[in-house]
Amino acid sequence: MGTPTLTCISTNVALHKLNTFNVKAFATSFIQIDSLQQLKSNYPEIAACSERFVLGGGSNLLFISDYSGLVIYPQLKGIQVIAEDSRQVTLRVAASEVWHEFVCYCLDKGYFGLENLALIPGTVGAAPVQNIGAYGVEVESFITLVECFDLNRGEMVSLSHDDCQFAYRDSLIKRAGQGHYLVTSVEFVLAKNPELVLTYKPLKEYFANQSSVTPQQVFDRVCQIRAEKLPDPKLLANAGSFFKNPLVTEQHYLRLKKSFPELVAYPVVTDAKSEYKVAAGWLIETAGFKGKVVGKVGVHKHQALVLVNYTDDDGSNILALAQTIMQAVKQMFDIELKAEVRVLGQLVEKTKNSGL
Ligand code: EPU
Repeated sequence: MGTPTLTCISTNVALHKLNTFNVKAFATSFIQIDSLQQLKSNYPEIAACSERFVLGGGSNLLFISDYSGLVIYPQLKGIQVIAEDSRQVTLRVAASEVWHEFVCYCLDKGYFGLENLALIPGTVGAAPVQNIGAYGVEVESFITLVECFDLNRGEMVSLSHDDCQFAYRDSLIKRAGQGHYLVTSVEFVLAKNPELVLTYKPLKEYFANQSSVTPQQVFDRVCQIRAEKLPDPKLLANAGSFFKNPLVTEQHYLRLKKSFPELVAYPVVTDAKSEYKVAAGWLIETAGFKGKVVGKVGVHKHQALVLVNYTDDDGSNILALAQTIMQAVKQMFDIELKAEVRVLGQLVEKTKNSGL
């Protein structure tokens, strides 16, 4: 008789507290990863599960049923300074550090650049996956390297900034699909002299009459704006923006602008074409959904891009509301909204072609 293999995989694990939408869902299998060594030694068992998903802070996903695969839950911690001179510092940050705590750490140490990204929920490892962004800044500007464990091949892989193919709320890691890359650490290069980004209108206006602005002031103002507009997931369950801001052609934009002079959109000019990014919050508000409550779920009263869960256990009701919104926006503006959050569970197949 051989020695039984020690397994770290648990079965039937509750995910209720591990998703900021606070919906009830169970994972058929679940493994917590506390070190790279443990990840490597458990790899054969992980590889045996064809359906798997890497769970970070759970702040950008919606479970619409129990999850029938393996949830991999990294708990990798630590911040290291790996290079430093008088101008800048390079930090290697383990994936499971809490994003906002990392932003506070940097501000405290005098490492600047991330102030505009304060209070974004989630982990450091999730930041490059969807290239988090807010108030005129995207995280990719500071990332030089992303270390991942390739769960398909069972080996470490280093992705340079260019390898990551960052785009608006997107990257190679995200496009590779759930359960392919597990981010283990991220390298950031941050400035020691403040280089403030005040291009976002509400920041520009707020600081217009100030001759000098500090990173701490930008951080404070961003925290204030977020607190006014966005619900704190600890107090009202949500996953931030549910949809991405859609891109439309110039012709489409001009047509819409004629019918809706108040339309909020920004030009996005690339080498190949000229498009417009439309504020999805405006579309949803104009379609009449802002503040709407449907049963135990709804649309946030201050930011229509955010769906909220008052007390529902069942994520499929949030999905149903999202689909109703998508249909209304399609009908009114001929625009197909695409989800920013990841939708996980049995209905995924059915919703794949509807943008969710
Ligand atoms: N707007 C409305 N009604 C609304 C919401 C927005 O009319 O209910 C219009 C307003 O005119 C506003 C404009 O849309 O000026 C833009 O709104 P906001 O500044 O709140 O930004 P957003 O485009 O709706 C994006 C990100 C947010 C990020 C903010 C600030 C996406 C999908 N969302 O929202 O990110 O905090 O910009 O930079 O890109 C997140 O990803 O979870 C998130 C919260």
